[in-house]
Amino acid sequence: MKRKPYIFITRSLPEKTIAPLLEVARVSMWEKEDEPVPRDRLEEEVEQADGLLTMVSDQIDRDLLESAPHLRVVSNMAVGYDNIDIEAATELGILVCNTPDILTDTTADLTFALLMSVARRIPEGASYLAGGKWKEWAPFLLAGSDVHHKTIGIVGMGRIGAAVAKRATGFDMNILYHNRSRNREAEGQTGARYVDFDELVQESDFVVCLAPLTDETKGMFTYNVFKQMKKSAFFINASRGGLVDERGLAYALDEKLIAGAGLDVFQEEPISSEHPLLSFSNVVALPHIGSASVETRNSMALLASRNIAHVIKGYRPKALVNKEQ
Ligand code: GLV
Repeated sequence: MKRKPYIFITRSLPEKTIAPLLEVARVSMWEKEDEPVPRDRLEEEVEQADGLLTMVSDQIDRDLLESAPHLRVVSNMAVGYDNIDIEAATELGILVCNTPDILTDTTADLTFALLMSVARRIPEGASYLAGGKWKEWAPFLLAGSDVHHKTIGIVGMGRIGAAVAKRATGFDMNILYHNRSRNREAEGQTGARYVDFDELVQESDFVVCLAPLTDETKGMFTYNVFKQMKKSAFFINASRGGLVDERGLAYALDEKLIAGAGLDVFQEEPISSEHPLLSFSNVVALPHIGSASVETRNSMALLASRNIAHVIKGYRPKALVNKEQ
């Protein structure tokens, strides 16, 4: 008798988002929504699984992939897939999928919110009020920096970068970008100007990191990069913490080489409240929630499920990462 495909989901997801999987396979999932699956459970599951639906917090490395005799597809509920060893998966004939496009606008909204929060000191203002400190109105109370008519420098002009540029046009910003290749469409739509990395860093009032984490981009934002920025400029990261040398950023903030930072991502996640970057009042830090709207997270879970269901049915999934398969 033919074996019914088996899928393991590494977090608890709403039932309606996994409906496409329930039609084609036996499915089980890690019971918890707010805690990653323990490694030993994942190791047990991959011995039988034909498909895995994974999160950015799961490390899907070569060892794990090599111990998965039936595995045909890993579907990550994220646009980024640096948590998966793509080379090993490709060698082993395992398809890897992601959830592009549907999270673009939601992530761009959060990136822009982070930029505005740090520039206009919004979380500081909210805590000031909640802490009972507001006794008098004052002309320069919590005065921040303007966003409109400033220069934004976007590092990584992919889909999310272009969506941030589009938002920046509404604020009459001058838009610079740096990317592996020119994005003529974004240039045409937003007036963004392609510049080299050094020029972007030196000229921007907001340096916004949206490039994926790869061997080339790892640790690219060093102390020396922050040192080249204007003292009045802000650094925003909504991509991956691995692009930033966090010690270098902490030194730069300590020496007041930059005006502040907005960070949604960190080198090692989750961070604790003792993390050195949290000690600066001009840092706004968030727990990796770029694409976290209810609508978008439901769509991402559904697309991640559909990707697997396509493979099980013998079709090529739409959001395939290792395309040479
Ligand atoms: C989130 O970080 C993603 O890559 O979608």
